[in-house]
Amino acid sequence: MKPLLIKGARPYGEEPRDLLLRDGLIAEGAVDDAEVIEADGLIALPGFVDLHTHLREPGREDTETIATGSAAAALGGYTAVFAMANTDPVADNAVIVQHVARRGREVGLVDVHPVGAVTVGLKGERLAELGTMAATGVLMFSDDGHCVADPLLMRRALEYSTALDVVIAQHAEEPRLTEGAQAHEGEHAARLGLAGWPAAAEESIIARDCLLARQTGARLHVCHVSTAGAAELIRWAKSQGITVSAEVTPHHLLLDDERLATYDPVNKVNPPLRTAADAKVLREALAEGVLDCVATDHAPHAQQDKDCEWSAARPGMLGLQTALSVVVATMVEPGLLDWRGVARVMSERPAAIAGLTDQGRPLEAGEPATLTLVDPAATWTVRGALLASIAANTPYEGMTLPGRVVTTVLNGRVTAHEGKVLQ
Ligand code: DOR
Ligand code: ZN
Repeated sequence: MKPLLIKGARPYGEEPRDLLLRDGLIAEGAVDDAEVIEADGLIALPGFVDLHTHLREPGREDTETIATGSAAAALGGYTAVFAMANTDPVADNAVIVQHVARRGREVGLVDVHPVGAVTVGLKGERLAELGTMAATGVLMFSDDGHCVADPLLMRRALEYSTALDVVIAQHAEEPRLTEGAQAHEGEHAARLGLAGWPAAAEESIIARDCLLARQTGARLHVCHVSTAGAAELIRWAKSQGITVSAEVTPHHLLLDDERLATYDPVNKVNPPLRTAADAKVLREALAEGVLDCVATDHAPHAQQDKDCEWSAARPGMLGLQTALSVVVATMVEPGLLDWRGVARVMSERPAAIAGLTDQGRPLEAGEPATLTLVDPAATWTVRGALLASIAANTPYEGMTLPGRVVTTVLNGRVTAHEGKVLQ
């Protein structure tokens, strides 16, 4: 592989500096035979890490595959993704997680880390073989899509996780409180006659799990925090020294339940879009570090599962290729985060939460050449049909968003450049 010279990029939005990439690492000095990327005006950040991606393989390759999802990730500036376990069959055993990891390596566009299920078949009845999966290199376990609702099972999972030094990521949704739920319980759902998904269903599980994390000393990660009250609980837990981390999705930062008025199921997601007041608190909590990171909850769905009546539609939204732009719109432009902060929430914190040692590293000599170049001045208009995912269910269709990923580099190899994937 030829050395690569990135000329004039601004690491973390600071002073321009040439970055020489050689043998997979950021290097010192100059070489004559380097390929050059002119990066005047571009911002260099460590490659993004997504703790929450649904790649749908095995089982729903009509909506996404590890290949197409990896392409979407690379185009979105990601160099590592965590592939959720709610596939078909479920990734609740060593065979499936190893298959996902191997396909990820074969595709080679991003580091694909399989997430193992906490319970067999995501049924919430008995623990999956966490140890066997951890032995294959699984770093994170989650029943995402479902909540590990049984408190004793959650306690046991947390206990095992401490011994295995892995993270348990919880989709916080008290099932009895969300039976039949279709949208955030509030004014808009009431007007449309949609059964409500109350904030307390999310918050009660987060409160319980923080207490269980305190009791067990485990590393608890809370998926897609969506309410102001949930952010307050996490603030409290951290103040008590509880080892909890939390993610927020781009859509919960930008969108709110006024979108229900469209009655378009592209806006159906779990947890649901909350109020504008919730979204404001989430943005502030992310800026403060109460919420650690942004995770996409990239959830591709087939057209027939989205272009139907609201109650029949599946929850979920594409996110990988729009995440950076939504973070620019909601966090950078309003002055809540600078580019150092973007590096923190998109790369450094998620890498640290999962325990990755080769991602989220400083842009310095001797470190992995794993980085993303962003044009902060560019804008682009989202078209679901043009995204790399097989599915097209983006809630940002037709919206013009700020900030564009120009180049993604994984271990010195360009994986995406100017909107094209380089295999
Ligand atoms: O909206 C969602 N979609 N939330 C989840 O928890 C699961 C995901 C999916 O798998 O489609
Ligand atoms: Zn979830």
